[in-house]
Amino acid sequence: MQETEFDKFADEYRALHERNIRLSGEAPEYFAEYKVKDVAEALARTAAGRKPDLDILDFGGGIGTSVPYLRKYFPSAAVTCLDVSRRSLTLAAERFGGLARFVHFDGVTLPFDDCSFDLAFAACVFHHIDHDEHVRLLAEIRRVLRPAGTLFVFEHNPLNPLTAHAVRSCAFDENAHMIGGPTMKRRLAQAGLARLKLKYRLFFPHALASLRRLERYLTAVPLGAQYYVMAQKS
Ligand SMILES: C[S@@+](CC[C@H](N)C(=O)[O-])C[C@H]1O[C@@H](n2cnc3c(N)ncnc32)[C@H](O)[C@@H]1O
Repeated sequence: MQETEFDKFADEYRALHERNIRLSGEAPEYFAEYKVKDVAEALARTAAGRKPDLDILDFGGGIGTSVPYLRKYFPSAAVTCLDVSRRSLTLAAERFGGLARFVHFDGVTLPFDDCSFDLAFAACVFHHIDHDEHVRLLAEIRRVLRPAGTLFVFEHNPLNPLTAHAVRSCAFDENAHMIGGPTMKRRLAQAGLARLKLKYRLFFPHALASLRRLERYLTAVPLGAQYYVMAQKS
């Protein structure tokens, strides 16, 4: 069985991540929760937000860090955590076995029928994937979304100097290639997704947490530590 890059990092993934983001003053769970909260808030403004029993795909879910938050913000949803790393999936299942199903991906064809999910979510996955593969994989995610289904791609923002430093100094980011927000938005469009929105996130560290209430006015400023692109299958 072929080992993937994250098989060797899976056991120490959380500790490495925690060390790498210590300048932010936050734990890995803070970054996991803000993403799912953003998704829930954005979806609440769409028809999908009114559907209680969503089928959710956590694409590249790793050791399952987002799973408890997907269940917290979407309590009636069925969550599928998918990854190419078998070791990550084993750990995810040990941590959150009852909260999701854990599915291996061969990196080529998603093992699901067309139109299986209402929501797909990829948190800091695409910078670990060869850029030449992005449009093909995004189209594959589009295939398994239902009509009007929504995809959220969260990524590190290469224009933020602290993010760029954190990625350069992180062991599991050794082979990572960050993607600018406009480029990622273009790739989603090339994959056939529509109604694209790009929003920049995470402007203030824990020490300036009182300023975070201003972040919703800054989502067009391309300097946040991360961004997301939201898109729909038309
Ligand atoms: C930085 S981790 C992020 C994990 C999780 N999304 C999180 O927020 O904690 C990147 C994950 O992407 C996975 N990955 C890499 N290439 C992939 C691919 N082609 N398809 C799906 N997942 C992939 C890795 O195995 C790893 O678990």
